[in-house]
Amino acid sequence: MASKERLFNPTLLLIIIMSSLRGSSAALDTLKQGDVLNSSQYLFSAKQRFTLGFFSLTPYHGDKKNSYLGIWYTNYTENSEVWIANRNRSISDDSSAFLTLDHLGKLMINSSGFGVDPFVIYSGGETENTSVTLLDNGNLVVSEVNSNGSIGRRLWESFDYPTDTLLPGMKLGVNHKTGRNWSLTSWLAQDDPAPGAFTLEWERKTRRLVIKRRGEPYWSSGLQQSKFKNVSLFEYIDPTKGQDYIINTDADGEYFAYSLDTEFESLINLQDRERSAWQLQYWGPIMDRSTSIMKMNFCYGYGMEAEGCEKWDQPECRYYNQTFEPKSGFFRHIGPDGLLQDDAASVYDHSTTIGPADCRARCWNNCDCWGLNGDEGTGCQYWTGNVKFEPDDGVSRSILKYVLTDPPKDEISKSNDKGNEKWIVPVIVTAILVLFLGTFSLWRIYRRRVEAERRQEKHLLELTTPDRLLDADELENDGNARHNIKVFSFACIAAATNNFSPETKLGEGGFGPVYKGALPKGREIAVKRLSRNSGQGLVEFKNELILIAKLQHMNLVRLLGCCFQGEEKMLIYEYMPNKSLDSFLFDPTKNYLLDWEQRVNIIEGIAQGLLYLHRYSRLKVIHRDLKASNILLDENMCVKISDFGMARIFKRDGLEANTNRIVGTYGYMSPEYAMEGIFSEKSDVFSFGVLMLEIVSGRKNNSFYNVNGPLNLVGYAWELWQRDAGKDIMDPTLKDSCPMHQLLRFIHVALSCLEDSAADRPTILEVISMLKNESASLPILKKPAFFTGGNVNNEDLQRKGSENYSVNGLSISRMDAR
Ligand SMILES: *[C@@H]1O[C@H](CO)[C@@H](O)[C@H](O)[C@H]1NC(C)=O
Ligand SMILES: *[C@@H]1O[C@H](CO)[C@@H](O)[C@H](O)[C@H]1NC(C)=O
Ligand SMILES: *[C@@H]1O[C@H](CO)[C@@H](O)[C@H](O)[C@H]1NC(C)=O
Ligand SMILES: *[C@@H]1O[C@H](CO)[C@@H](O)[C@H](O)[C@H]1NC(C)=O
Ligand SMILES: *[C@@H]1O[C@H](CO)[C@@H](O)[C@H](O)[C@H]1NC(C)=O
Ligand SMILES: *[C@@H]1O[C@H](CO)[C@@H](O)[C@H](O)[C@H]1NC(C)=O
Ligand SMILES: *[C@@H]1O[C@H](CO)[C@@H](O)[C@H](O)[C@H]1NC(C)=O
Ligand SMILES: *[C@@H]1O[C@H](CO)[C@@H](O)[C@H](O)[C@H]1NC(C)=O
Ligand SMILES: *[C@@H]1O[C@H](CO)[C@@H](O)[C@H](O)[C@H]1NC(C)=O
Repeated sequence: MASKERLFNPTLLLIIIMSSLRGSSAALDTLKQGDVLNSSQYLFSAKQRFTLGFFSLTPYHGDKKNSYLGIWYTNYTENSEVWIANRNRSISDDSSAFLTLDHLGKLMINSSGFGVDPFVIYSGGETENTSVTLLDNGNLVVSEVNSNGSIGRRLWESFDYPTDTLLPGMKLGVNHKTGRNWSLTSWLAQDDPAPGAFTLEWERKTRRLVIKRRGEPYWSSGLQQSKFKNVSLFEYIDPTKGQDYIINTDADGEYFAYSLDTEFESLINLQDRERSAWQLQYWGPIMDRSTSIMKMNFCYGYGMEAEGCEKWDQPECRYYNQTFEPKSGFFRHIGPDGLLQDDAASVYDHSTTIGPADCRARCWNNCDCWGLNGDEGTGCQYWTGNVKFEPDDGVSRSILKYVLTDPPKDEISKSNDKGNEKWIVPVIVTAILVLFLGTFSLWRIYRRRVEAERRQEKHLLELTTPDRLLDADELENDGNARHNIKVFSFACIAAATNNFSPETKLGEGGFGPVYKGALPKGREIAVKRLSRNSGQGLVEFKNELILIAKLQHMNLVRLLGCCFQGEEKMLIYEYMPNKSLDSFLFDPTKNYLLDWEQRVNIIEGIAQGLLYLHRYSRLKVIHRDLKASNILLDENMCVKISDFGMARIFKRDGLEANTNRIVGTYGYMSPEYAMEGIFSEKSDVFSFGVLMLEIVSGRKNNSFYNVNGPLNLVGYAWELWQRDAGKDIMDPTLKDSCPMHQLLRFIHVALSCLEDSAADRPTILEVISMLKNESASLPILKKPAFFTGGNVNNEDLQRKGSENYSVNGLSISRMDAR
C-alpha cells in the first residue's frame, strides 16, 4: 500500500556503504571463544539467508556516520535490518569496531570510540565455554559447548531481544513463569534506530495486538476469538502471500507469532516470501517489506474503527478527520496588508530524543500549529501563528512538509432537537418560530456573506489600484507600466466583448475560453474567462495576480488587468493580432511567410522569455505547458509567451481535474514529468527542444503515424542526425534562406535539450549562449528521449499527493561480501 518514494531532497538520502569483505575464506556462521569479527567481516547463516555484520547510517542532521551491529537478509539491502544489537548506542563510524566472544564467554562490541567501556551483548557466566551462531531463521544464539565439542544449552538468543522486527517464528507475548515478555519498539526516526515512539505488544487479556504511542493505545487489531485469519482487520493481507497466524497458549504463557504457510508456496513470489519481516515503522504502521499490514497510515485519535485506530482526547481546535498532508512548499508570514511575506520563523527543537511521530503529536496538540517539517529525522520543527502555506509543487528545493488540512467550509453546527413533544400546538409554534428564526438568520448569513465579499473586493481594489478604480480608458494613457493590476468592471468587459458573444471567441485554452474585445477608445484586448473550478479564494487569487503582474518582459504577453464579480474571474491581456505560432507554422498556406531569419528571431525570443521566467527572483516560474499554440506573435512577429503562471493561478486539484493540463501536452512533456510528475526548469527546456525542432522542420511533433518508422519528430530527427542527414529535417520552404551550418547547429542544440536525463540537458542560459555564439562548443549527444505519451504512470502521479507517501526514502547501497 505504501509506496517507496524518495524525499524531494536527494542530499537527505541515507546511505549505507559497506566495504566488501576481501580475502575472507569460506563464510562462517559461528564465532568461537577468542574469535573477533571486525567491521569488514560478516557471519553468514548456514544457508546464507541471513548476514550479521556492521553497517552504518548517515543522520539527516549532522554528517558523522553511525555504526551498528545488525542482522539482515543476505543480498537484500533495502530496510532490511531485522535486528540491531546496539540500537541506542551507536558507534561513531571512524572508530574501528569489532565483535568479540572472549574466553569467559562474554559477547561484546569493542571499539576505540567506546574507550574502556565495551557494549556487552551477553555477559556470560565466568567459566562457560560458549560459541555464537547465526541461524537460518535470523536468530543469533549463544550456546554452551560441551566438553566433547557438541553444542549444548542455549544461553542467550536475539529473538528474546526483538527490536522493531518480527520474523516468522519470533514471538510477541509473555511468559508467566519467567516474567519475560516480548514486544517490538519502532525506530526513533528514519535515520536513528534508537527506541522510538511506537511499541507493538500482544495484549493477553483482550487477545489482541496493540500499538502504543509513548505508552498510550494508538491502534489495535480488535477483539479476537481465535485466529486472526478470520478477522476483518487482517482481511487485506493477501492470502496468497502465504502468511498464517498462530496464537499459542501453553502452560508458561501466551504468544502471537506468524509463519509462512507452506500451502501457498507455489503461488507466490518466492523471493518476497523469503524476505518476510513485519517491521513496526517509526511513523506507526507495521509493514512487511512494501506491503502495509494495516489499513491505516496514521491515526489521529478519532477512533476510526474500520482502520483499527484508537480514540483519544483531542484538543478543541481539531475538527473531525482533520489530517496532515504531505506537501512541498514554504510557510510564509502573512503581513499586515494580508499579503504573504518572507519565510515564516519556525519553532525548532534540535533534541535527538524525539522523532517525527513525537513532532506530529506536538504540532497536533498545539492549536497554533499549522504544519511541520517532513524530513523524517530526529528533532522537531513546526510553524505557528500568522502563517500560510505556499505550495511550490516541488519546483524549488523546499523540504517536504506536513500541512494540516483546512477545516471544511461548510462546518455548520447542527442544532439538535432532542425534545419529543406530545403536544401539537407547541410543535407548531416552535416550528413557526424556528422557521422565522431560520429565515432571519439565513438572511443575516446571506447579508454577511455579501458584505464580506464586497469588503474583500474592496480590499482587492484598494490593493491593486491604490488611488481609485481605474477607468478602462486610462489604460490608453498609462505610459509608465507599474505593477498595479487594473481592475475592470464586469460591465466594461461584457461591453468590450459584445457580451461574450461567440463571434468574439478566439479559442479555448486549458483554463477556459478566450475572447477578443475592444475598449471604448479602440484598444484591443484578449479576455481569458477562467473556468469556475479554480478552487481558489479571493486572497490566493490576488496573490497570484500580483505575482504574474510583476512578470514583465518583452517576450511575455502582458497582463493588463483582471475582472471579477462573484464567481466570475477574468484575466485581461494585450491582444496579439498575429495569433499564435502554430497558426503559421503548421498551416501550409502560411508557413512560407516565416523565413529563416524570422524563425531564428522566434526561437531566440522564446529562449529569452523562458530565461526571464526561470531566473526571475526566487519565485522561479516553470511554464510547464510550452507549445506552439502558447507562443503568440505581435504585429512585428515578435514572440510573446502566454499562459505562463496560469498553472500557479489554479490549485493542483483544479489542474488534475483537467487531464489535458496536468500532463501538459503529449509530445512536449519531458519523460520525467510524464512518467513521474517531476518538473523542473529542465522540463521546460525539453519542451523548448521540441518547439525548436517544430520551428525548424515546420512539422508537428506528433504528426507521425508511421508504425514501423519513428514515432514522433524527436525520434525522426534523431534518426536523421545519426545517419548524418540532419539537414533533411529542414522545412522545404527554408531552402533558400537558411545557412546550413546554422541549421545543423540549431538541430544539435535542440537535440541536446531533448536528452533523456534532465541532468544532461543544458539550462536555458546555456542554450542561449550556444545559439548566439557560433564558437561555443556543443555538448556530445547521448540519448534523446523518445517518449511518445503512452506510458504515463498514473499510479505514480496519484501517489504524489496522497498520504500513502510512506517516507521510505532510504536509499541503501551495500556491497555484500562474496
Ligand atoms: C578485518 O580482518 C581481516 C582479516 O583479518 C583484514 O583483512 C581486514 O583488514 C580487517 N578489517 C579491518 C577494518 O580491520
Ligand atoms: C546472494 O547473491 C549471490 C550472488 O548473486 C548468490 O550466489 C547467493 O546465492 C545469494 N544468496 C542468497 C541467500 O540469496
Ligand atoms: C538502551 O536500551 C536498553 C533496552 O531497551 C535499555 O535498557 C538501556 O537503558 C538503553 N540505554 C540508553 C543509553 O538509552
Ligand atoms: C574488549 O574490551 C574489553 C574491555 O575493555 C577487553 O577486556 C578486551 O580485551 C577487549 N577485546 C579485544 C579483542 O580487544
Ligand atoms: C557430548 O556430551 C554431552 C554431555 O556432555 C552428551 O549429551 C552428548 O551426547 C555428547 N555427544 C557426543 C557426540 O558424544
Ligand atoms: C571449548 O571447547 C572446545 C571444544 O571442546 C575446545 O576446543 C576449546 O578449547 C574450549 N575452550 C575453552 C576456553 O575451554
Ligand atoms: C513487559 O516487561 C516490561 C519490563 O521488562 C514491563 O515493564 C512490562 O510491564 C511488561 N509487560 C507485560 C505485558 O507484562
Ligand atoms: C474461520 O474461517 C474458516 C473458513 O472460512 C471457518 O471455517 C472457521 O469457522 C472460521 N473461524 C472462526 C473462529 O470464525
Ligand atoms: C470526513 O468524514 C466524513 C464522514 O464522517 C467523510 O464523509 C469525509 O469524506 C471525511 N473527509 C475526509 C477529508 O476524509
